[in-house]
Amino acid sequence: MHAFAFLAPFLLALSALSAPTPCEPATSVAAPASSAPPTSAAATTGGVDPSLVLQFGNNPNPNPDGTGNCDGAVKDASGNFIKVPCACPPDRQLFINDLSTNVAAGHCVNNTGVDLSFPSGNTAQEQFTRLQAMIDTMQNLNGEGKGCPIAATNWGAIQQQLTSEF
Ligand SMILES: *[C@@H]1O[C@H](CO)[C@@H](O)[C@H](O)[C@H]1NC(C)=O
Repeated sequence: MHAFAFLAPFLLALSALSAPTPCEPATSVAAPASSAPPTSAAATTGGVDPSLVLQFGNNPNPNPDGTGNCDGAVKDASGNFIKVPCACPPDRQLFINDLSTNVAAGHCVNNTGVDLSFPSGNTAQEQFTRLQAMIDTMQNLNGEGKGCPIAATNWGAIQQQLTSEF
């Protein structure tokens, strides 16, 4: 009895330690606690609220390979960073501008068959829908199917995490 009472918290702590790492992005996924109204800048330009646009989470050590490719933000099965074009991900403000253009149009202007929306709520579904809009924008930055791979960001893991919360 006493031994169990002593062990139980220890076991709980252990299981918390061994929790799968994909749970971590959950905190960074959550929209700011204050579901603040759009900034005046966003309101006047009609753009998306920048505070709802996830950071890229890109690799700070790009490690150019001499052929225009750099280390992305994600490792492959053998533990090597997946290579992405060194221009990826793009400048954040340019990305927000393109995202805003697409959201205003309701689809990717560079790939008109791809519909998207950017809801402002905080449910997993709404966060997922926003992330999908960001991914679609990222993949069509320079034309139909011409953009940056998602491996240039840490969004793939966040997308998986959100999917598991539906
Ligand atoms: C569409 O592609 C052009 C390049 O062809 C690029 O300049 C523009 O920013 C892109 N627009 C969006 C919304 O991604």
